[in-house]
Amino acid sequence: MPVRLALFGFGNVGRALARTLLETKAPFVVTALATKRHGAVVDAAGIDLGTILAGTDLPLRELPPIASVPADVLVEMTPLDPVSGEPALGYVRNALTAGMHVVTANKGPIARAYRELEALATKQGRMLRFEATLADCLPVFTLRRAALPLATITAIRGIVSSTNNHILSAAATGVPFEDALADAQRLGIAEADPRNDLEGHDAAAKATILANVLMGAELVPEDIAREPIDERAATAARAAADNGDRVRPLIEIARRGGKVVASFGPRRLAPMDPLFAVDDFSMGLVFETDLAGRVVVQLHDPHVDQVAYAILTDLLEISGTMPRP
Ligand SMILES: NC(=O)c1ccc[n+]([C@@H]2O[C@H](COP(=O)([O-])OP(=O)(O)OC[C@H]3O[C@@H](n4cnc5c(N)ncnc54)[C@H](OP(=O)(O)O)[C@@H]3O)[C@@H](O)[C@H]2O)c1
Repeated sequence: MPVRLALFGFGNVGRALARTLLETKAPFVVTALATKRHGAVVDAAGIDLGTILAGTDLPLRELPPIASVPADVLVEMTPLDPVSGEPALGYVRNALTAGMHVVTANKGPIARAYRELEALATKQGRMLRFEATLADCLPVFTLRRAALPLATITAIRGIVSSTNNHILSAAATGVPFEDALADAQRLGIAEADPRNDLEGHDAAAKATILANVLMGAELVPEDIAREPIDERAATAARAAADNGDRVRPLIEIARRGGKVVASFGPRRLAPMDPLFAVDDFSMGLVFETDLAGRVVVQLHDPHVDQVAYAILTDLLEISGTMPRP
């Protein structure tokens, strides 16, 4: 029996996931699909994604209550609200309570309520997966599970915002700030509200998730010290390039005095830094660990299809259909 999926949110990421499901012929059937302004559709026999991608109107005006949807997994892909985590947080709670597994690409619920949601998933005997929240398909939580069991992660540094990295990389070559932001919006990579990228809310949510999930912290996004990516940072990027350095939008998480502290802002890196080559839309993370030493992962020039791929790998894990290497 194919695993039944309910897709909540069908924008850049949702449509990329639909294309990936069609291309890979993965063992899933979509039985519900919901948007905010474009309606919804529920069909226990399976929805034809090709027709929906071609632009067919969705018949239902009201969103179906999650508990009523004939699905095994909620795939949550609504926009980020960094303050409340809603509507995603409510959707994820309701799905787990109704006995569904959950995959989300949305940082909001995980940054706001990871411990509560993980406890609920455990109580319900269901899985909560969120690889796509961090850096598209850059392995982070799968890396932790598969390659770093028992190791203590003592510090994390990284570039996890494609939009901001593109703006600073482009600024170094003289491209105006507004043009670089427009590029990221055209490619569907910028957040629906670009202030979430530029003011560091997206990065703060990601730093919170990394600190809480991988380092056992109890942070909320407001705990992360934020500096914006703005014209001043762009000017600094141009000046650094003249001296062979690069300015990167960096998150830094470390233990200080028994507490986990985290920050985000533009930081100047020298060529020997492992994140120096993480240019343009690329992302990368450096994990300092006790047992495994320094582990560095990078994803170069991802597209929104790589977000869909991260969701697909979570779905394969949940459904127990992950191919053996
Ligand atoms: N884009 C990326 O590269 C990327 C990468 C990693 C993670 N993410 C995360 O993935 C999520 C989706 O991003 P996106 O780029 O696909 O956003 P998007 O293009 O703005 O699409 C959002 C979708 O959610 C729907 N929606 C909005 N409010 C809703 C509600 N209350 N109930 C049900 N559906 C609702 C929208 O409906 P309408 O179509 O009617 O407006 C739209 O279909 C965000 O949380 C984002 O942070 C994105």
